[in-house]
Amino acid sequence: MNSPVSYRREAPGVHPPFDHAAYASTHKRAPRHSPVRIEHTLSEITGPLFARETRVPDEDDLTHFNGGEALGERIIVTGRVLDEDGRAIPHTVIEIWQANAAGRYTHSEDRHEAPLDPHFAGVGRVVTDEHGAYRFKTIKPGAYPWRNHHNAWRPNHIHFSLFGPSFATRLITQMYFPGDPLLELDPIFNSVADRAGRERLIATFDIEVTIPEYALGYRFDFVLRGRDATPTSG
Ligand SMILES: [Fe+2]
Repeated sequence: MNSPVSYRREAPGVHPPFDHAAYASTHKRAPRHSPVRIEHTLSEITGPLFARETRVPDEDDLTHFNGGEALGERIIVTGRVLDEDGRAIPHTVIEIWQANAAGRYTHSEDRHEAPLDPHFAGVGRVVTDEHGAYRFKTIKPGAYPWRNHHNAWRPNHIHFSLFGPSFATRLITQMYFPGDPLLELDPIFNSVADRAGRERLIATFDIEVTIPEYALGYRFDFVLRGRDATPTSG
């Protein structure tokens, strides 16, 4: 019988520590004891299964809500979900949430003095196709202050959650935009110690993804494991 091939592990520093000195709220939520390793059972590794048919129309389009058109710069965000060997991962549920163009979330806890947009809810969901591909149409999120330290501003970013083929295959991270001057000042982005890992969190502008006269386009792929793994980012 052949020996099983183990997964190639991520480089040290790809995933951020639970407690990161410069990211204030991690002190409150980081576990104080080492995690307990729980063996996977059937219920964690065989479900849930998401079919493309579970899609709801228009959940991939955040540019219209409540009978009107959202304000801001329209963008396309597209890419693929891949394993460590570059194989497509179909049937992955990808959910996003983000601030509006003014940097305000549609959330009761968001106290930022920036306008809400009645036509922007800021949440979307898709299921990857047989090529592991996904695509959203949305509005470029604005930067916002977040009181982590004096004059702290989050760079433009979109939050992503991926559900793979089982409950044990989950990735929560954030996508950033190229050339953002706030990146080098952001404790959350910089909690990924590995420079190559941080760069994998930045989308690539791609003229081929744009829609002429309508929307700019960005490409952002996910790699779920291995040396090119997409870092988690909470
Ligand atoms: Fe955010």
